[in-house]
Amino acid sequence: MQNIIDTNKCLNVKKGEELEIVKKLILQRFKNKVPKALVRTYGCQQNFSDSEKIKGVLAELGFFFTGNEADADLILFNTCAIREHAEDRVFGNVGALKNIKMKNPSLIIALCGCMMEQEHIVKKIRTSFPFVDLVFGTHSISKIPELIYKILLKKQRVFENVVDEKVISEDLPVLRENKIKASVPIMYGCDNFCSYCVVPYVRGREKSREPSNILKEVSEIINSGYKEITLLGQNVNSYGKNLTQSINFSELLKRIDSIDGEYWIRFMTSHPKDASCDLIDTMATGKHICKHLHLPFQSGNNNILKKMNRHYTREKYLEIINYAKKKIPDISITSDVIVGFPGETYEEFCDTLSLIKEVGFSSLFTFIYSKREGTIAATLDDPIPYEEKSKWFSELLKVQTEIADNLYKNMIGKKERVLVEDKSSKDGIFIARTSGNIAVEIEDKNNLIGQFVDVLILDAKRSYLTGKIV
Ligand code: 5AD
Ligand code: SF4
Repeated sequence: MQNIIDTNKCLNVKKGEELEIVKKLILQRFKNKVPKALVRTYGCQQNFSDSEKIKGVLAELGFFFTGNEADADLILFNTCAIREHAEDRVFGNVGALKNIKMKNPSLIIALCGCMMEQEHIVKKIRTSFPFVDLVFGTHSISKIPELIYKILLKKQRVFENVVDEKVISEDLPVLRENKIKASVPIMYGCDNFCSYCVVPYVRGREKSREPSNILKEVSEIINSGYKEITLLGQNVNSYGKNLTQSINFSELLKRIDSIDGEYWIRFMTSHPKDASCDLIDTMATGKHICKHLHLPFQSGNNNILKKMNRHYTREKYLEIINYAKKKIPDISITSDVIVGFPGETYEEFCDTLSLIKEVGFSSLFTFIYSKREGTIAATLDDPIPYEEKSKWFSELLKVQTEIADNLYKNMIGKKERVLVEDKSSKDGIFIARTSGNIAVEIEDKNNLIGQFVDVLILDAKRSYLTGKIV
């Protein structure tokens, strides 16, 4: 690569200048053709939201985007560390990039996100994946121009490790591909240290965004025509705890709800130890707040909940659920559950089954326990073999499928307001969602995408409904 940039001049430049310099370097590297990036995201909504910022920064640097690996000049994987399976998938897919890099040596391969916050993972990438050029964690998105600059100019591999960032970068551009639904992080990190979970170690301590910044972003999103906003955080119910001004999540919801416009608000994830009656009351009276509560219970057994360090009991969980059902009779409740926590007995697992039956979740995210290095649970005895846990897991799925089937059948004949999100792969069919986040297929000749419509529920299929516009 011919170097026409004066390196010394580049080392101390202002922010705007830095962008211009990196842009020029990128054009040189890719021989003045339009550079293309492929960004692949693994894991949760927070990761997808981070990827929108990563794409925003890359777009500012002049990148266009492609879905085709062979066509890309930069391939970036935003990784997830929540379970071993997620990590294995990433390693498999990174390994497959070796051949692509051999065919295209100027390709930049970058890995970021939660996995890259773990020392043992970074060590493995360093030694076993020498074709990876750039590694950075969840706190370094704002540094992408600087990191790419280092790779291009110094022609070296870059491993960026920021342990925890105290300040939230508010000025990052966001590239949203979906034009109907947007997510807005209201806080980052987690302080809960559930004993099985790696998130507090990889995403750092809990930090709330200033309400004024959130309100500004949400207003802009609504004004530009978005119809649904999901407020994101690992535990949205503890929003505001580290802010100087006194504000909690219910108050934030009320302020957002008072913005004019036709839109829905969702939020996730809530933690049962912090979910308050005040939050349910706010949901019940809000004009725009969806009648959907995602409240992970993880286990229905008090001994396991204690070992999970969850700080609530089965009884406390059911109390808040019953209050929500009383205040919002048509509320849809969803949850996360873990099967086979270390030391869990079949009898304890049966308490999880009975809780599922008692609550009647409209859907569940179900997980078999996965050992995460560095967590407390990883030090506990885990005598039940995986095959046995899989049997319990299948039993749970069977129970939940029956519950959801019945719940969906009970909706036949009811009128529901839905937001039409997309076209289905079937001709003339659109996919919409109820306020409770249940999918509904609607047949229509017109393009309904982005519209709220009232539908009559005609039928219940496995995991979705069908309806017609009324
Ligand atoms: N094993 C299995 N499931 C886990 N989760 C988090 N950590 C683990 C783990 N080590 C699940 C929890 C959490 C969801 C996002 O992922 O249910 O709520
Ligand atoms: Fe993990 Fe618990 Fe924090 Fe959720 S609340 S991210 S499960 S530590």
